Amino acid sequence: MVPVITTSALARPARASTPDATRRRPAARCPRRNRREGTVLRMREPSRVGAFVRDARCQVFVRRSSPDRHTPGIWDLVGGDVVPGEDPERALAREVARQTGWTVRRVEARLGTRDWEVAGVRRQEWSYLVEVDGDLAAPRLSPGNHYAYAWVGRDNLDLVMAGHSDGDRRLRDLVAKATRLRLSERLRLEPIGPEHAEDLWRVHQDPAVAAWLGGRYSVGEARGRATSAARAWESTGVDKWMAYERTTGELIGRGGLSWSEVDGRVGLEVGWTVRGDRWGCGYGTEIGRAALAFAFDELGAADVVACTERHNRRSRAVMERLGMRFVREVIGRAVSGRGANGRPAGRGVTGQGPAGWRDGLPERASFVLYAITRRAWTAQAGGPIPRQTPADRAGAPWTSQSAPM
Ligand SMILES: CC(C)(COP(=O)(O)OP(=O)(O)OC[C@H]1O[C@@H](n2cnc3c(N)ncnc32)[C@H](O)[C@@H]1OP(=O)(O)O)[C@@H](O)C(=O)NCCC(=O)NCCS
Repeated sequence: MVPVITTSALARPARASTPDATRRRPAARCPRRNRREGTVLRMREPSRVGAFVRDARCQVFVRRSSPDRHTPGIWDLVGGDVVPGEDPERALAREVARQTGWTVRRVEARLGTRDWEVAGVRRQEWSYLVEVDGDLAAPRLSPGNHYAYAWVGRDNLDLVMAGHSDGDRRLRDLVAKATRLRLSERLRLEPIGPEHAEDLWRVHQDPAVAAWLGGRYSVGEARGRATSAARAWESTGVDKWMAYERTTGELIGRGGLSWSEVDGRVGLEVGWTVRGDRWGCGYGTEIGRAALAFAFDELGAADVVACTERHNRRSRAVMERLGMRFVREVIGRAVSGRGANGRPAGRGVTGQGPAGWRDGLPERASFVLYAITRRAWTAQAGGPIPRQTPADRAGAPWTSQSAPM
């Protein structure tokens, strides 16, 4: 029987003509941490600042305004005015301390900018991702201004829509972004949305990347991918991140999870792509590790698969560095966009039958399938190994074999 596998990797297959993993190996340049860690590059000074305060579970703190306020019952962020000439991050720290009693430990990144006009004067608000110290279970609320608070995560995002009879989703969408963003040792991993189209295009213009991923994206393709990624985040709670160096903000690549179908079973697939001049720095592995942590530690996945061309040694090395094991070769191609529990399958699968394949690709490309189970992930993380449940056994049918290269 010919195994059928539908994955995002298969939906954008590479030209499998060079049986050499070292197809291009640009000189590696791994920037060292600089002293600007924790600070954010600035452009124009804002008149207001807002704080997406996140807890260890990546939930965002919001408060609800009191009934006698001019916008009663609306959820909002901690924030306030910047005194003319004041450093915005200083204003942020002051307002967080005054309104909650917490101390800002780190300002990680600017997540949003909002412009508006009052009496002909242009105003701008910058909202930052912030981590704080203090008792997160006991924020200080300003009496008369706010009467309730909540921590919003991926399961209760729509809470912040309460009171928005005009359907304004701006805050809700920014909170969603803040809950989906992840930080690894060196990378800020932002959930891909329309605002990342240009960076996605840049990554896929890179000749080292294009050689493996079926050629360069056009601008239209990049926009389409960015938009469909945003849709997938909304409908499935999972998709790829754009990866940036935390200290410099430099674009590194993309990667993360997507839903894929392997032999009729829908599960999570992990993938990574790094700009050619950043190969050899461990960034692909770092993206993969963050994605596996998301899958196992947060989503409770039983297993995660990865798929690449058989001779993509660099990608296979990432899989092995992550503790993934070779399962078998796969000869087949994308045939279906079906997803689990009515969810659409991963980006790149839906709507991509043979007609979506590029010219010059082999009819029967050879790919390899790797997998890792939650048990293996937990064991290598040094935690207590979970007891294997019948569901785990049913969900992890992978039998490792020796890997042909
Ligand atoms: C797949 C891809 C991300 C692998 O890139 P990579 O640089 O080989 O892998 P990593 O980023 O994990 O870096 C590992 C290398 O950095 C070194 N390294 C340095 N610091 C490191 C660290 N902190 N952690 C891990 N490795 C580190 C490793 O020793 C290894 O070096 P080596 O190549 O000499 O063995 C890259 O080749 C790529 O983007 N390819 C095109 C897209 C693609 O094929 N994607 C996969 C589709 S399925």
